[in-house]
Amino acid sequence: MKVDFANLNLQYKLYKDEIDTAIHRVLDESRYIMGPQIQELEKELAAFTGTSHCIVCSSGTDALQLTLMALDIGPGDEVITTPFTFIATAEMIAHVGAKPVFVDIDEKTYNINPGLIEQAVTDRTRAVMPVSLYGQPADMDEINALASRRGLAVIEDAAQSFGAEYKDRKSCNLSEFGCTSFFPAKPLGCYGDGGAVFTSDDQAAAKIRSLRVHGQNQRYRHKYIGIGARMDTIQAAILLAKLKHYPEEIKKRRDVAETYTRLLEGNVVTPVVGEDRTSVWAQYSIRVKNRDQVQEALKLAGIPTAVHYPMPLHLQECFKYLGLGPGDFPVAEKVSDEIMSLPMNPFLTLDEQEYVAAKVLKL
Ligand SMILES: Cc1ncc(COP(=O)(O)O)c(C=O)c1O
Repeated sequence: MKVDFANLNLQYKLYKDEIDTAIHRVLDESRYIMGPQIQELEKELAAFTGTSHCIVCSSGTDALQLTLMALDIGPGDEVITTPFTFIATAEMIAHVGAKPVFVDIDEKTYNINPGLIEQAVTDRTRAVMPVSLYGQPADMDEINALASRRGLAVIEDAAQSFGAEYKDRKSCNLSEFGCTSFFPAKPLGCYGDGGAVFTSDDQAAAKIRSLRVHGQNQRYRHKYIGIGARMDTIQAAILLAKLKHYPEEIKKRRDVAETYTRLLEGNVVTPVVGEDRTSVWAQYSIRVKNRDQVQEALKLAGIPTAVHYPMPLHLQECFKYLGLGPGDFPVAEKVSDEIMSLPMNPFLTLDEQEYVAAKVLKL
């Protein structure tokens, strides 16, 4: 048996007519940049999350950058985040000239440990950037309460969690700013790069809209130093077509995750989702002591796996200048050594899942 990791090809085939029609509409209209589908998508995504504003952009990375720029975060500032995430989170903090300040994670959820944030706050701290890892929202109430006490902005890196819920509110609408990614393999993905910023702050939204197009407020009049970070109209059209199926896909992802947990629980460390929230299962990640061996055996059995992420960010060469080292964030380091992701997509069959689980349990 050969199992597919994200199965984007099957997804395309299932929605082919709608997606092809959407793409051809863009070709027929030839409004490739900021065509009408951009606004349409922004309206639908804002309604989906319950935020007042959605600004779609060229990637999840750019969504983070635009938000940091809108807050004028730069040299001399610090932003608190997790060391157990994709590089873009801390990279964009550094990219705008600020210092990423890491705080260790919770051993159960792998999200930032909210109890450790306060001690990392200094006079220079401007924002907290929690990541809703693997699709599960971080502890946003605790983080928002602390941030409001200390006068900090909160930017949810929701690149993996679009569609997840926390106390009946949608991810991306859990703090002042939410940033997501529509990278193809994300739970809701386009066919290239794409992302979005969500906020209910009117002024910030207007500034982000302007920053997205070189800081312009009218054609060839530039109020800010911005960047070129527009989403392509074709990607917006694809997302509009896929969004219709997304609520059903979220349910299917949840079923797949529950099945994995039922099959594997008690034998390996399975993911834990808080009772007051849901995950969209960007990844189904387990922890094993003998990861190399398990990955190799699964590969031989036709089962692709991945590691999200093998090295916490404080140990990355690019962050050497921060002066951090092994032992500084022990939970993130331990989890990085043991974590591995199994194939996860809405279309996995019970047979496939049983096959994967049997191979994992054999080792
Ligand atoms: C947690 C996290 N932040 C940021 C990003 C960046 O998103 P993108 O790849 O769309 O730039 C990703 C995805 O790759 C991510 O997983």
